[in-house]
Amino acid sequence: MKKSFVIIYVFMFSFLNLFANTTTNKQSKEYYLAKDYSYLLEIDDFDKSLMQMHITLYEGYVKNVNMLLNQLNNLDSSSNISKALKKSFAFELDGLKLHELYFDNLKNDIKIDKKSKFFQKIEKEFKNFQAWVDDFTNTGLTRGIGWVILYYDVKEDKMFNAWIDEHQIGHLVGLDRILVMDVWEHAYLTQFGLNRKKYIDTFFNNINWQEVSKRFEKVLKN
Ligand SMILES: [Fe+2]
Repeated sequence: MKKSFVIIYVFMFSFLNLFANTTTNKQSKEYYLAKDYSYLLEIDDFDKSLMQMHITLYEGYVKNVNMLLNQLNNLDSSSNISKALKKSFAFELDGLKLHELYFDNLKNDIKIDKKSKFFQKIEKEFKNFQAWVDDFTNTGLTRGIGWVILYYDVKEDKMFNAWIDEHQIGHLVGLDRILVMDVWEHAYLTQFGLNRKKYIDTFFNNINWQEVSKRFEKVLKN
């Protein structure tokens, strides 16, 4: 994990905790509940310690989102503190949502159905399946911390592999998320070191293709 990121994260966490103690309403509400992802510890290709750390980190996003919402409910929206917290909200909520999409599209021993609408669309859009895998992989090798998302634009019937900076920068407005991959360093560094390519290959070997196909077909129906 980059030293600069650690400093920023510690600062943000301290900032949030500071204002948690200054809000007047002592009643706090849990707007979001962390989902149980303990089953992911059974994926042999990922170290249990790595996955457990990642799940714990996700639970931190849930905690911070709830904390922020409670704080914002007790602040004057015209205040600078409220405005600063709203900037943090995009980071925290997108961090929560992206981790759920990522964990939900992970599972071992799920083979892709080559007769599925998703597979056929990928083959049509990217010439062939491997060409899409290569493009997604290369997008994931972008320097920096972030995410790779396979988006589908149902109106134009187009697919894109997009790079997201941090959690909240670079999202494609109005497009649906079909496959999500975490490429923050915490997602792979303790097991794969700096070999991000090996992590991405391992990710591809453990994608829940049923979930991915379900997401795509749900967009087609709506
Ligand atoms: Fe992550």
